[in-house]
Amino acid sequence: MSGELSPIDKAKFVAAKKAVEYVEDGMRVGLGTGSTAAWMVRCLGEMVREDGLKIRGVPTSARTAALARDVGIDVVSLDEAKWLDLTIDGADEFDGEFNLIKGGGAALLQEKIVATASDRMVVISDVSKEVETLGAFPLPVEVIPFGWQTTKALIEEMLDSLDVLGQTTSLRMNGAAPLFTDEGNHIVDLHLNRIGNARQVAMVLNQIPGVVENGLFVDICDTVVVGYGDGRVQVRDINENAVSEDRLEFVESENLFSDLGD
Ligand code: A5P
Repeated sequence: MSGELSPIDKAKFVAAKKAVEYVEDGMRVGLGTGSTAAWMVRCLGEMVREDGLKIRGVPTSARTAALARDVGIDVVSLDEAKWLDLTIDGADEFDGEFNLIKGGGAALLQEKIVATASDRMVVISDVSKEVETLGAFPLPVEVIPFGWQTTKALIEEMLDSLDVLGQTTSLRMNGAAPLFTDEGNHIVDLHLNRIGNARQVAMVLNQIPGVVENGLFVDICDTVVVGYGDGRVQVRDINENAVSEDRLEFVESENLFSDLGD
């Protein structure tokens, strides 16, 4: 069955499989959102069902919550868990300093709150997400629906003063209608091409009334687990300034590979 996976899916899977090695009995674990994080949730579910792992999971979206319950993870809210030992999540881009762009799946607000409330954030990614400078991936910004056009105009005005290459913005759609996030907000995507100073952009964006949060994660991620299509994984840790490598086998499991949807 694993033969049906594309190299990208294999890379996402091995990154996820490696990252769940950080999860220990009794931990409170933040569960990210997206196709890579979905692999991680399935791997954790297998550990719960087959190895008796006992964890409480705090999901970062309604769809992750549904998947986590489906695979047998004890799902609790962040307010119940209060603080987390570890969050494992995907990313849309990461740079050499482990700055991230997230929110391609529109879950950036809960993802940032959960990751910030964790002792450690581990990002899982295939190698295609690694960049020298952030910004090729459009930067998602969550805005409240009230006055969103004004907020969007204020964001565009603010971009003039920042070290970015592009300045166009677009409201994210869900078919013909504006997309609503799990928190009932809209997403404005910023097509910046190159973000010279991620910390500055993140801080300035959050000063604009109507902006709830932006998808730049600065000083939040501790570890990046990079997966490759041939089963190799590289674990990079910013605190220990260490890089290690491993190779994982694709062990077919009906439960893990049966539902490939995110
Ligand atoms: C969800 O809002 C995002 O932050 C995801 O974590 C990110 O888009 C990565 O998704 P994939 O793993 O599907 O590429």
